[in-house]
Amino acid sequence: MYHKFDVIIVGAGGAGLMAAMQLPGASVAVLTKVYPTRSHTGAAQGGVAAALGNLEEDHWKWHMYDTVKGGDYLVDQPAAEVLTREAIDAVYELEHRGLPFNRTADGRIDQRRFGGHTRNYGEGPVRRSCYAADRTGHMILQTMYQNAIKNQVRFFNEFLMLDLLMNDGQACGVVALEIRTGEIHTFHAKAILFATGGYGRAWRVTSNAFACMGDGMSVAYRRGIPLEDMEMYQFHPTGIYKVGVLLSEAARGEGGKLLNGKGEYFMERYMPTMKDLAPRDIVSRCIIQEIKDGNGVDGKDYVYLDVRHLGAAKIAEKLPDITDFARNYLGVEPITEPVPIQPTAHYAMGGIPTDIDARVVIDDQWTPQPGFYAAGEVACVSVHGANRLGTNSLVDLIVFGRRAGKHMAQFIASNDHAPLPSEPEGYSRELVDRLYSSKGGESAANIRATMQNEMDDKVFVERTENGLRKALDTIAGLQDSYKNVQLQDKGKHFNTELVEAVELGFLLDCAEATTHGALARQESRGAHFRLDYPKRDDVNWLKHTLAFKGEKTHDVRLDYKDVILIDDPIFKPKERKY
Ligand code: FUM
Repeated sequence: MYHKFDVIIVGAGGAGLMAAMQLPGASVAVLTKVYPTRSHTGAAQGGVAAALGNLEEDHWKWHMYDTVKGGDYLVDQPAAEVLTREAIDAVYELEHRGLPFNRTADGRIDQRRFGGHTRNYGEGPVRRSCYAADRTGHMILQTMYQNAIKNQVRFFNEFLMLDLLMNDGQACGVVALEIRTGEIHTFHAKAILFATGGYGRAWRVTSNAFACMGDGMSVAYRRGIPLEDMEMYQFHPTGIYKVGVLLSEAARGEGGKLLNGKGEYFMERYMPTMKDLAPRDIVSRCIIQEIKDGNGVDGKDYVYLDVRHLGAAKIAEKLPDITDFARNYLGVEPITEPVPIQPTAHYAMGGIPTDIDARVVIDDQWTPQPGFYAAGEVACVSVHGANRLGTNSLVDLIVFGRRAGKHMAQFIASNDHAPLPSEPEGYSRELVDRLYSSKGGESAANIRATMQNEMDDKVFVERTENGLRKALDTIAGLQDSYKNVQLQDKGKHFNTELVEAVELGFLLDCAEATTHGALARQESRGAHFRLDYPKRDDVNWLKHTLAFKGEKTHDVRLDYKDVILIDDPIFKPKERKY
């Protein structure tokens, strides 16, 4: 089936919906694998950072400093300036669109503390995160979806993207599977935005929804677009033990603390100033260190998040959802008991390289791919560098989603639809037909489980050359097995086995690019901690990785591009402790 629009947006989370809002008068379609309000933005809990200064003095430049430092200086600094300056306006846009933020006594947006956010260039924690209890992402999604409906954006729900179409160097459409019917659809457009989120499901313990399968990254990668800084993957310190579901950093922002098996609030020992509100990469490493030192609870691989001292009233008002998660998933009552937690795969700092207008750029010279945009977690505009600060993901969505929408509005005004390539559905039909007809006997579920265990084991908070090499061998073997995946269900309607098999291919691509980048990067920076290279090495590694998919199954070519710094001594790379 053929469809023609001015703009196709793939993904109905915060970035996609924010972009859709900027295109009045254009015909806009949003394709989404899930029902829009089930997008993973809804899982973001603690807030959205913006230097509003509603409760204490704050400045966008302090926010920028924290973002650059928190990212261990792998951040493109002009992009961080855009992020932090425009965060303020973007948050007010959300407010004006109807988002029910928590309020101060005098009616302004309330703000709370979050890890790595400081006043006056690192002096101490600052209240910068604007929030709606511990369901801020959920509120963004509901608010933006209602606005999109009001603006008559057309939604194609439960469509799985299979391919990006290009002709003569211009992006001109996507091909997608309608999950309900099994039909293949071609969407022809002048501009295409990928806002498909991350790939946390490559790990076993993850905070990510079942939809976070790396779709956009893999589809672009297969079409020759590089993936940037994929080795920079964040492990959030407080996932529910064994389950991975997020317990927001807001718990620590409100005064919660990490407790080891000996009953000690151990973060004070590692980070005397920021304590439990140090950046996430550091807190995750401290937890792992405690466990290695035998200070896990009962000698096991977990510690506690303790919010008991906050009291029942504050917990009910500020942290209702996450405390319910602890009750439901663990049977633990956070008002009277500490909650078992462990680091959980949470967020991709890397992704499809873009410039500050969300245009996809395809090489180290920043050459844009006309008509192709990416925003949100799928993209790497490099505002997070090697480690993202909590609540900077929602800002990224709204700031760069908005910029994508505005730039696409200009682009479609001065460009026609590029013609579709011949046989636009050829690749996608072959992909689906091969899965339906395979008699290879391999199970997608087994391959996925092996990959997730290997990633948890060897491409986690701490990494070594030996471990990464083994992980690469395993992933290469799984790529081979993947060619023989056989479906049990040959039906067309809601064939979730088919969907999961396609998604597994996406995850394997992302795991491969991540592990190659991690093996090559012989230093420790932000979330990428190499036990065999424990120091940051600015002389050799202050640069972005670009991973290109090779011709053959296991080929990955790595290239590098400069990090963009600005001429201001405040942002000059400095040592970052621990
Ligand atoms: O901890 C949290 O609420 C997560 C926020 C984020 O990843 O930005």
